[in-house]
Amino acid sequence: MRMRKKKHGSERLASLSALICSNPAILRENPRSVFEKDAPLCLEIGCGKGDFVKQLSVAAPDYNYFAMEKVDDVLVVAVEKYAASRELGGLGPHGGWLAPDGTLYADGETWDIPLAQRGNVRFLSGDAKMLPEMFGENTFDVIYANFSDPWPKSGYEDRRLTAPAFLAIYEKLLRDGGRFCFKTDNVGLFEYSVETVSASPFEITFLTRDLHASERAETNIMTEYERNFTAKGVKINCLEAVIRK
Ligand SMILES: C[S@@+](CC[C@H](N)C(=O)[O-])C[C@H]1O[C@@H](n2cnc3c(N)ncnc32)[C@H](O)[C@@H]1O
Repeated sequence: MRMRKKKHGSERLASLSALICSNPAILRENPRSVFEKDAPLCLEIGCGKGDFVKQLSVAAPDYNYFAMEKVDDVLVVAVEKYAASRELGGLGPHGGWLAPDGTLYADGETWDIPLAQRGNVRFLSGDAKMLPEMFGENTFDVIYANFSDPWPKSGYEDRRLTAPAFLAIYEKLLRDGGRFCFKTDNVGLFEYSVETVSASPFEITFLTRDLHASERAETNIMTEYERNFTAKGVKINCLEAVIRK
């Protein structure tokens, strides 16, 4: 996702840093403890501007969610959208984050948002290749990767989020019976992913090359990219796969 550099991006992230997890020991040892209510965990990789996790976390509130994004100028948009959707305020008219009680958090000042108001999503700044160091095995019930970068040129296959090395990471991070869910507009990436997932220990349990015409259409939650592609008439590919340990 290409983004123009966000003005004061790091200061903006700092004011809402209570919604961003950066304590490696907690993530590794007890990631469930960062949420107010104990619940099974889901992970979205490459959350972009965060619309998917924002909606899913409301539609399926019995889970807690980590949403990972490697570009901080994109992550800041996701965090701010989520905070606004949970009535935690909005951008101040002249910058900074304006909390509902009128307090302005600016110039890198952090708002220690009460745990009960933080909701069931926490954001992670980082690259998916760091996941094995960040989280222990059998941590997640579901891992989502939506409209990930296709890396079409030969020599870059390893960067695709459905490359065998990434699937091996998901296999470890998911609990027995956990699911990997993948959506893309890109036909080449989808066919590659069907091949790599089929060759992995995952079992494909759902596959469609036209999600919006499938039985999942009604319950499907659209991402930003999905909305744009769908508006252009592009069909959406989707697969889900389960790991049995
Ligand atoms: C094409 S965008 C899709 C965004 C969003 N999922 C959607 O469907 O609208 C892919 C996003 O994944 C992020 N991303 C790509 N590779 C990643 C990785 N290895 N780890 C974390 N984020 C990644 C990119 O920075 C970008 O924001």
